[in-house]
Amino acid sequence: MIRHLTRIPGARRLWSKFPIGSVSLRTEYDIWDRPHYAYGVYKSAQLARNLKLQEISVIEFGVAGGNGLVALERIAEQVSQHLNIKISTFGFDTGQGMPPPTDYRDLPHVWQAGFYSMDQNKLRSRLRTAKLVLGNVADTTSELTTRSNFPPIAFVAFDLDYYSSTKSAFGIFAGPSSSRLPRVHCYFDDIVWPEHACHNEYTGELCAIREFNDENESQKISKIPSLAWMRKHPARWNEQIYIHHDFDHPSYCQLVTPPGDTYRERPLQ
Ligand SMILES: C[S@@+](CC[C@H](N)C(=O)[O-])C[C@H]1O[C@@H](n2cnc3c(N)ncnc32)[C@H](O)[C@@H]1O
Repeated sequence: MIRHLTRIPGARRLWSKFPIGSVSLRTEYDIWDRPHYAYGVYKSAQLARNLKLQEISVIEFGVAGGNGLVALERIAEQVSQHLNIKISTFGFDTGQGMPPPTDYRDLPHVWQAGFYSMDQNKLRSRLRTAKLVLGNVADTTSELTTRSNFPPIAFVAFDLDYYSSTKSAFGIFAGPSSSRLPRVHCYFDDIVWPEHACHNEYTGELCAIREFNDENESQKISKIPSLAWMRKHPARWNEQIYIHHDFDHPSYCQLVTPPGDTYRERPLQ
């Protein structure tokens, strides 16, 4: 019934304006400003709950003006309340726009130094709880996860545009396994658009992912196959969701299928 109704043109836009319904229902139907962020935060918080964790962190790499970080913070607040789990939100950025591109892999035909500047005061006045981590991610990323009180990373949105910056940001996965969930939901913004970027596995974020997978035995970043087919309304962002797998994580094999789930049913005799 809801599925049919939300197929009517404009219905979901209208619903977004009057966001009634539970957090899980709105996540199922993409009734969010950034449905890809909502999906990542919600699914990863669910995983954390099933692993009996009390607290997680969600991160946006590449903040610019801050619309994404504000959206992430607001989503985290609602998911936190709905699933009764503490969620800390972090945003990483130079604070001064794009650094100079390193070479062709940073797609200098699309992005250049100084693109996407940030008004730090304006952004700080919009943020309620999210923490801004300013500086080049090459310097700021790994320090954070080695802090003993850092809540395990659950969801990461990568929106740094460059290959080199994304590669540096993967330092977030270099800390001890306690600094992350066994499976971390990831969103990669720069693998689809703009068309003139001609994204491919030898440049940009796709190149950083390929190299990460080549360089790591027990950690891999890979897509959720056919996610679009599992969604009520297939969308472009379904192609941009990946999972960081840490196969050596002590909780990787912990059963997270809830009691009563159909997967536990016995086959018919
Ligand atoms: C496309 S913008 C992010 C847009 C934002 N996620 C949104 O949805 O509103 C890319 C940002 O990545 C940041 N960035 C790129 N390389 C970086 C690096 N090496 N260290 C820190 N920030 C970087 C730039 O400063 C820029 O603000």
